[in-house]
Amino acid sequence: MSSTRKRLIELLMHHEDTYISGQVLSEKLSISRNAVWKHMNELKKDGYTIEAKAKLGYKIISYPNKVSENTISWGLNTNWLGNRIVHRETVTSTQRIAHELALDGAQHGTIVIADEQTEGKGRIGKQWDSKSGKGIWMSMILRPNIPPYLAPQLTLLTATVVAEVIDKETSVTPQIKWPNDVLVDGKKIAGILTEMQAEQDQISYVIVGIGINVNQEKNEIPVNTNYEASSLFLETKQELNMVALLQRILQTFEDKYDRFLDRGFEEVKQQWESYGFRIHERLQVTIAKETWDGIFLGIAEDGALLMDRAGEIKRIYSGEIAWF
Ligand code: BTN
Repeated sequence: MSSTRKRLIELLMHHEDTYISGQVLSEKLSISRNAVWKHMNELKKDGYTIEAKAKLGYKIISYPNKVSENTISWGLNTNWLGNRIVHRETVTSTQRIAHELALDGAQHGTIVIADEQTEGKGRIGKQWDSKSGKGIWMSMILRPNIPPYLAPQLTLLTATVVAEVIDKETSVTPQIKWPNDVLVDGKKIAGILTEMQAEQDQISYVIVGIGINVNQEKNEIPVNTNYEASSLFLETKQELNMVALLQRILQTFEDKYDRFLDRGFEEVKQQWESYGFRIHERLQVTIAKETWDGIFLGIAEDGALLMDRAGEIKRIYSGEIAWF
């Protein structure tokens, strides 16, 4: 039942601009025309809008905006990412659930997604505001065969995935602020949190958490003293379909991840830098009590920020960054 449904959605998706006849659908799916009609009614119940026209057939008009295990997996064009999807309405943190599942042996590519997080985790012990149905709150369980010291490259890769999808799917052009905040018009839209379980020279698993503010209104954006935040809705004036956005992220991630394992970090580095916020501009870095002025050059293989300090190239791993 569910694999026929998945195929049906894929066929409708590939004919978004035309009608596809009941006859063609029944032949391609090897089911009766009456069964096609029944499936269409089920899809409508799941929130899909489907137009049926005599003599022409069926056409998909809109997709459900409600995230569920089914709506994510139907029409998801990946080989391994999202083969297991765990969706919950409310969780403390998808990171926490993903750790539990990973320790329990969950397979590479498992994703955990929630409508709401009550204890969403940001980087450096900060909290991440995750209201119900307003954004994408997701954690991916990965078991890459790379040495642990390369794990930060996965975080940078994820930032390029989020930036590329926003770039392609919306009217705005995002930027990535080192190391991995995705900004639109200088305001933070998305953040990435990577956590790893490893032994000396082998990764047991990596959890990559992605938080994207999608449909929040102005009064739903938390006021933050460190940075200005926003949502895709506020920046694009478009209400975005969360399921479609999520599927695009998973597809782009899988593709980039496979290429990264095959070809290394160079492509990711170049793409990261093409979205890099304030590259080639002057910046100030404060580490402990020392402050350095210099020019932001880009990122190094290990994810460090590269700065030119009076002709000397410095690698920065942490510290307070300020731009002039
Ligand atoms: C940051 O501080 O910029 C990182 C934010 C990461 C938030 C995501 S939302 C899904 C996953 N679950 C969490 O608790 N945090 C990450």
